[in-house]
Amino acid sequence: MIFYFSATGNCKYVATQIAKVTNDNIMSVVDCVKSNHYTFHMSKNEGIGIVSPTYALGLPIIVAEFLKKLKISADRKPYVYFVATYGTTPGQTGFFADEYMREKGFPIDAKFSVKMPDTWTPVFDLSNKEKVNRINYRAESQIDFLLAQIKSTACGDFMTHKVPRLAAKVCYKIGYESIRKTKHFNVEDTCIGCGLCEKKCPVNAIKMSHGKPVWIKEQCVMCLGCLHRCPKFAIQYGKNTKKHGQYTNDTVKINKIMETERLYLRELRMEDKKELMKVLSNSESMQFYPHPFSEEEVEKWIEWNLDNYKKYKHGLWAVIAKEGDVFVGDCGITMQNIGDKTVPEIGFHIIMEYCKQGFATEAAYACMEYAFNVLQYPEVFSYTTIRNIPSQKVAEKLGMRIYKYFEKNGERQIVQTIMNPKLVEKE
Ligand SMILES: Cc1cc2nc3c(=O)[nH]c(=O)nc-3n(C[C@H](O)[C@H](O)[C@H](O)COP(=O)(O)O)c2cc1C
Ligand code: SF4
Ligand code: SF4
Repeated sequence: MIFYFSATGNCKYVATQIAKVTNDNIMSVVDCVKSNHYTFHMSKNEGIGIVSPTYALGLPIIVAEFLKKLKISADRKPYVYFVATYGTTPGQTGFFADEYMREKGFPIDAKFSVKMPDTWTPVFDLSNKEKVNRINYRAESQIDFLLAQIKSTACGDFMTHKVPRLAAKVCYKIGYESIRKTKHFNVEDTCIGCGLCEKKCPVNAIKMSHGKPVWIKEQCVMCLGCLHRCPKFAIQYGKNTKKHGQYTNDTVKINKIMETERLYLRELRMEDKKELMKVLSNSESMQFYPHPFSEEEVEKWIEWNLDNYKKYKHGLWAVIAKEGDVFVGDCGITMQNIGDKTVPEIGFHIIMEYCKQGFATEAAYACMEYAFNVLQYPEVFSYTTIRNIPSQKVAEKLGMRIYKYFEKNGERQIVQTIMNPKLVEKE
């Protein structure tokens, strides 16, 4: 059983990744608290995982209270592990969690930490999406590490960036109380009275009054879920949150990779087949390919990309127009052979009716930035047949220059490329 608390999605993502390798169920602490469910039995071979954010160098009150009340029985001693996600330091979350679990006779065998975007936006700035993506990308190797340890039931304290215990105890006691002041919340005129903040608050600390949220100080655990999830970004805390932006880790929900002004890119899934066929099986869209794809070939295309995500952490992603949440095509980075070597290549396929609106350039530009800033590729490429002028024009708009020509499928291909400007600067 993996217990998690997550206001903005970071811990939910980590818990979901752990569940994929352990096959254990994930259990939301909020659901347990709301349904007064604190007694659990662990069957043979079932581990106990606790995944929690760090609040003021310690555990969110809701997690601490839950662990205090938790009652566990087990067929045999389970493997117990704790994971803290954090933005700056996980403080002494592992120590605090262990104190609660030890009292019940289930001391924690392994402790881990994962650095993720810091949702305490009264201080930390999450307005730069590129920076946020980079933090989340770096978190992947930390998650891979803990997955391997948990899978092999490794024991030990693997947490990094901790602070001394005394400092954490003092900060938790004084610091958490001092930030738990709901008087710092204010609601802007953009509030549409949708009530989402009231509905989603994990501890019922918001009541709607005259179409606006009002906070119940004693109940609020200061998770900032209301601020980050408001569809109009109408909730602010103090003076800085407006400029520091909103953040939610929606990776679990939609496997979102990146966002642009009008689009977002998420992982493809098999259910996209029908929409994807609108471009890959369309003879006009596929005029530069040997033939339009059959339904089976589109399925294979999606499977190939699902493999790419696992192997390279990139591939072609679904391109969705934010307005109306419409599937407009695919775009992304795949490894392609350009005659003498295999290189990261930016490709895209946009459904006819959405062409000539700049979507390909907008999505391809975001992919290029992702390739440079997140994946840290030294250069990226684009290749197509010399007949495909629209595609070459998009590459030109990205700043690519001609790299070479080569023969493939009995046709002359043009390869364009651009260097990672950050690496060029360093040289
Ligand atoms: C009230 C509050 C206090 C926080 N305190 C800390 C902290 O002491 N150290 C830290 O590194 N991150 C701190 N954070 C950041 C969160 O621990 C971090 O962003 C976490 O990944 C959020 O997880 P979630 O998205 O699952 O809610 C704090 C966030 C909030 C809302
Ligand atoms: S979620 Fe935002 S827009 Fe909706 S009621 Fe709350 S503050 Fe207003
Ligand atoms: S009122 Fe907002 S900050 Fe407080 S617990 Fe509810 S969602 Fe979290």
